[in-house]
Amino acid sequence: MTPFSSKKTPIRVAVTGAAGNIGYALLFRIASGHMFGADQPVALNLIEIEPGMAALKGVAMELDDCAFPLLTEVVQTSDMSVGFKDVDWALLVGSVPRKQGMERADLLGINGKVFVGQGKAINDFAKPSVRVLVVGNPCNTNALIAMKSAPSIPDDQFFAMTRLDENRAKSQLAQKAGVPVAQVSELCVWGNHSPSMYPDFENAKIGRSQVTDSILDQSWLRDTFVPTVGQRGKAIIEARGASSAASAANAVVDTVRDLSNPTRGDLHSVCVCSTGEYGTPVGIITSLPIKVDGAGKWRVVEGIKLSAYAKEQIAASNKELLEERELAFGQLGLSIS
Ligand code: NAI
Repeated sequence: MTPFSSKKTPIRVAVTGAAGNIGYALLFRIASGHMFGADQPVALNLIEIEPGMAALKGVAMELDDCAFPLLTEVVQTSDMSVGFKDVDWALLVGSVPRKQGMERADLLGINGKVFVGQGKAINDFAKPSVRVLVVGNPCNTNALIAMKSAPSIPDDQFFAMTRLDENRAKSQLAQKAGVPVAQVSELCVWGNHSPSMYPDFENAKIGRSQVTDSILDQSWLRDTFVPTVGQRGKAIIEARGASSAASAANAVVDTVRDLSNPTRGDLHSVCVCSTGEYGTPVGIITSLPIKVDGAGKWRVVEGIKLSAYAKEQIAASNKELLEERELAFGQLGLSIS
């Protein structure tokens, strides 16, 4: 067999929190071609804080030991000027977890400072075409802070992740209807990646029919399905004693892959900077239904009919995002305009 070779230029991907649980489930999938394709070389810039550097070395050793044909280089660093240098994608996974006794405002302030620093470094060192996906929580507000701290990178290159919530919602509906999950489509999760998010079952489909034609129990949809999706992260922590990692990493792969290729079928949920679509407040990073056109540009899907109930749910989640922004920006001295 001839050795693998590709003429394509490697895509350089920075991953923060690379030695953490999600990092451990994510890096091997990027390096094996699941994110960018089986003939696309990749280079990984792994970023950790100083206490994580020893574990990161072990992760890098394991990457070596996989002998991935597509992986051209692995950089290990705690220096953001090195880590974000010339990257095409920045996956911001690392974040400080909420500890006992910590108020939401404290968490927003602590992480806010981290994302100000990362936004500035991305602004100064990444390629101008870099795309940034924030996973570390509170991911919507962290993404907004990074975006505000990177004024030379266009706002439409910043994203936060709700694909895990979409995947969770599809799976719940498929199980209830007794169909394979691949039959569930057109399901957008709207709003904040928090228990207030709204998984819109009213516009979702099972096969060619509306979900509401297959699952007739409205009270199950509103009172069980919606909170189950919103609380799924907590349920995973209770069951496995650790936060979701493999499914989160899988959702990162799904998000980046689907933002990198023209959409052939289904829409997907991605948090983007709102320009007022569907009455959402302008300037927050909120989850919306997204498709990518043939030129590779993402856009918000238009013409989705939202019921009064759906509008109320979405407005409540976006109100939470406005409050998060006010709390975080107040602490960080950032201006909203
Ligand atoms: P983890 O605690 O296992 O790993 C986090 C890693 O980030 C650690 O290795 C830590 O050293 C590193 N880190 C912390 N601050 C950093 C910084 N400033 N720069 C670089 N590295 C830094 O956490 P895990 O399970 O990997 O989760 C990471 C984040 O993802 C958490 O905030 C979690 O809440 C969030 N998450 C988001 C989901 C979503 O759907 N948006 C789903 C699941 C988790």
